[in-house]
Amino acid sequence: MTNQLIEWCTSEIAGLKERHLFHMPKVHQSAVGARVIIDGKKVIQLSNNSYLGLSTHPKVKEAAIKAIEKYGVGSGAVRPISGTMDLHVECEEKLAKFKKTESCLLFQSGFTANVGVVSTLAVAGDHIISDELNHASIIDGARLSKATRAVYRHKDYGHLEELLKEARGPKSITGKILVVTDGVFSMDGDVADLKACADACEKYDAITMVDDAHATGVLGEKGRGTVDDQHMHERWSLTVGTLSKAIPVVGGYYAGPQIVKEYLIAKARPFLFSASAPPAVVAAVSACVDVLENEPQHHAKLWENTKFFKQGLKDLGFNTGNSVTPVTPVIVGDGAKAAKLSEILLENGVYAQGIYFPMVAEALSRVRTIVSASHSREDLQEALDVFKKCGKQLGLI
Ligand SMILES: Cc1ncc(COP(=O)(O)O)c(C=O)c1O
Repeated sequence: MTNQLIEWCTSEIAGLKERHLFHMPKVHQSAVGARVIIDGKKVIQLSNNSYLGLSTHPKVKEAAIKAIEKYGVGSGAVRPISGTMDLHVECEEKLAKFKKTESCLLFQSGFTANVGVVSTLAVAGDHIISDELNHASIIDGARLSKATRAVYRHKDYGHLEELLKEARGPKSITGKILVVTDGVFSMDGDVADLKACADACEKYDAITMVDDAHATGVLGEKGRGTVDDQHMHERWSLTVGTLSKAIPVVGGYYAGPQIVKEYLIAKARPFLFSASAPPAVVAAVSACVDVLENEPQHHAKLWENTKFFKQGLKDLGFNTGNSVTPVTPVIVGDGAKAAKLSEILLENGVYAQGIYFPMVAEALSRVRTIVSASHSREDLQEALDVFKKCGKQLGLI
């Protein structure tokens, strides 16, 4: 081993620490839920994505256990070789029905779904146009693609239209144009306007794609997602999503036309070259979809909790940005302050993660809160009391 690597990592990490950009993950010693154990201490959890609290739902756990008993623990290979079980096919059918799309294809994660779909469908001669606040996996998919790229200002569909015009005009793009947006933006909790996006795209014959990671289980009838919420089924091309948030297992999916699914099966590299999800995972995902279809109370509770907590933070005087979903940022202005707020919240029994540059601009550094259906009113009131105490301590309110 050369010293060069060790010295380089040491110096890079020192630099990151100086800028408050180095954080070791907090280790949890309990299941995902409203209250979790971190470093032996029980705290209110406001940082996980299990929006509907389904991680410990008895039907979901039972489905996973039964799948292990019948199929064992692994799928055996990549999907095209021998890693496709009837469980995968059933799960895809259920998800397609839930999303009201012709077909669905499972990936190992939301990250690989975005990378696979974007890099496979946009090729040399094509053009990708992306919202500036899209998730890293969309950016990486675009980087891997041989298509040219452009970025429009966040939710500025006038700017998107200018870029589309430029692409079909001076840039002479005659190939496909893929316009990609997050549905719910994960740092701010605001929502893309799919109608405005589609209005622009239809004028220039562009394909529309939404990443529904934070919208599935949250927006739309029974949580069917952004396209459903905005009644855009007839006008929207493609959806990609994750199975690690409201459906709180692991995995990702494409949802859209069958012929596109078949092309992805033939060409998408994560699908072709990385093992498929294990049986317990797939069975748990299917069980979650059944719960979404049949138990609307979780969705209703999520929104009840969201309204209560968001209003509570606003009433305390915090800057909560433009969020309209269960993701509510508490914007504090710089990285050091965000780190301090997160730290003292934890000391007082609330886990809410600090979010800093490069995830957001330095001046928009924040603590991000996410409520779920599993929080009780007492959990949320206690969390608000702690926010009040810590906000006053730091002079934020
Ligand atoms: C908007 C968005 N897209 C994609 C992903 C990736 O999903 P996964 O965790 O399943 O890889 C995330 C995860 O944080 C996300 O927030």
